[in-house]
Amino acid sequence: MSSEQPVIRPFAIMRLTHEALRVGIREVREALVSLVDEKGDSLALRSCLNELLGCLDVHREQEDKRFFTVLNEQFDDVIDKEGIPREHVDDIQEMGNIKKLLEGYENGTNTEHELGHALEAWMWNAERHLEHEEAVMMPLTEKIAPTVEERAAEVHKILEVDMDGFRNVQLGYVVRQLSRSDQFGKLRAFVDALKTVASADEYQDFATIIEDHAEPAHREELYNAGLL
Ligand SMILES: [Fe+2]
Ligand SMILES: [Fe+2]
Repeated sequence: MSSEQPVIRPFAIMRLTHEALRVGIREVREALVSLVDEKGDSLALRSCLNELLGCLDVHREQEDKRFFTVLNEQFDDVIDKEGIPREHVDDIQEMGNIKKLLEGYENGTNTEHELGHALEAWMWNAERHLEHEEAVMMPLTEKIAPTVEERAAEVHKILEVDMDGFRNVQLGYVVRQLSRSDQFGKLRAFVDALKTVASADEYQDFATIIEDHAEPAHREELYNAGLL
């Protein structure tokens, strides 16, 4: 086991979920290119899009129902003043449209270009949304509470918004997407944060999901770091 003590940042769970969503958006973009170039079936696109949206839905709820509330209360309505909740409303609406276009493509009423155009526009907006949130929120997370323990308790409350969604949808997705990078650092920071945020019983359960979704080389590093 390494003797180095990592710096634990509980809000890395939120920040690195963004990183996983970015990897997921790239995955969807690649599936879209194959679909348009090869006029193939939409199974690969549908599959990675559904997974991305599943994670995004849980993450959005965590923000709307807890994270934004805390930031608004402590920092003079910063989230509302920045218009961030409106971006969530637009996102949900745009996604509804894309799901219809995907069905339309599958039943022959929409072309792959109509679907591709809408999907590209949504992905561009989704990436701007992640950047906007990070610019506003990340400088504030360390100021939410003075100690790591208190910040961890706050992140736990964010996860409690939908603990089943976190466990069954978000966790595996984030681990898998972060583990696609050659660098171990992001996955490590996410798992370190989760171990600090979760109770011992919760972490024991989460560890089996992490184990299932991490790439073998990263799984080994997690074992060596005493995290599995
Ligand atoms: Fe968001
Ligand atoms: Fe976010």
